[in-house]
Amino acid sequence: MNILETEISQIKLKNPLMLAAGILGTTASSMKMVVNNGAGAIVTKSFTQEASSGYKNPTVVKIEGGVINSVGLSNPGVEAEYEELLKLENTRKDAPLIASIYGNSEDVFIKTAQKVEDIVDAFELNVSCPHAKNGCGANIGENSKLTYDIVSSVKENVNKPVIVKLTPNVTDITEIACSAQDAGADALTLINSVGPGLRIDIKTGRPILNNKFGGLAGPMIKPIALRCVYQVYENTSIPIIGVGGIRNYKDALEFIYAGASALQIGTSIMYNGPEIFNQINQDLIDFLKNEGYNNIKELIGKAHKF
Ligand code: FUM
Repeated sequence: MNILETEISQIKLKNPLMLAAGILGTTASSMKMVVNNGAGAIVTKSFTQEASSGYKNPTVVKIEGGVINSVGLSNPGVEAEYEELLKLENTRKDAPLIASIYGNSEDVFIKTAQKVEDIVDAFELNVSCPHAKNGCGANIGENSKLTYDIVSSVKENVNKPVIVKLTPNVTDITEIACSAQDAGADALTLINSVGPGLRIDIKTGRPILNNKFGGLAGPMIKPIALRCVYQVYENTSIPIIGVGGIRNYKDALEFIYAGASALQIGTSIMYNGPEIFNQINQDLIDFLKNEGYNNIKELIGKAHKF
């Protein structure tokens, strides 16, 4: 067995590093480029039935500790995204393709999922964007009943694995995680961005994002993401994908020790380029060999022994 091989439900991964939703995940060419740089799976940018131009720029701004972003779920709509995903048939043999979808009703989620079901390997339900409008994103994922309803309706209507991406911006993330699991979720992605937050330009006094408020991502949120993975691992039995500020193999190991079976990388690509996938994979291989492990799965949940 390959030393980095892992799995999420029925999805086999040659390594645990996945492209996170939101970065380089709209066109086939950018997704292929990420796979060529070593990603073990790809999550698309979230899309839905209708195209959306999102919020006006500036939408993503680097700040100390990471980025603040309020893109506004911009996407070309499912019909156009379908044409892009079709071009990834060969890439999928190397790296499973996971469609991140969003909506504000069971009907929208189901129709969007069914349109692409035959050309993707799994779904990631975005019920966690902290600055989404019109009943999308965290408007669903902050509520355990709404989360249950959306997840169970998608599960009843598709035959591919369903992963649910959760928001940390709740009183008790384990309650929402248990609802998703009870509704049939095959895995959980933890966490979406933290906030929303606000930053203001000191010369003009103007909020730096056009939408004013936006989600925080990058290294500054890593301790919160790790805490969420740790707590959810103790309270659920489905695989967890950890995401939030992973920059190097040491960050990756922390998430695996907390209970993650796979990991997603997003913001760090903005700082280090897509080469980060190959770099972390190689560093993980070296670490595992030096420490005498046969496979990365031996490390999942190690922090819970203490
Ligand atoms: O603004 C955005 O498109 C972000 C989406 C998300 O955080 O899920």
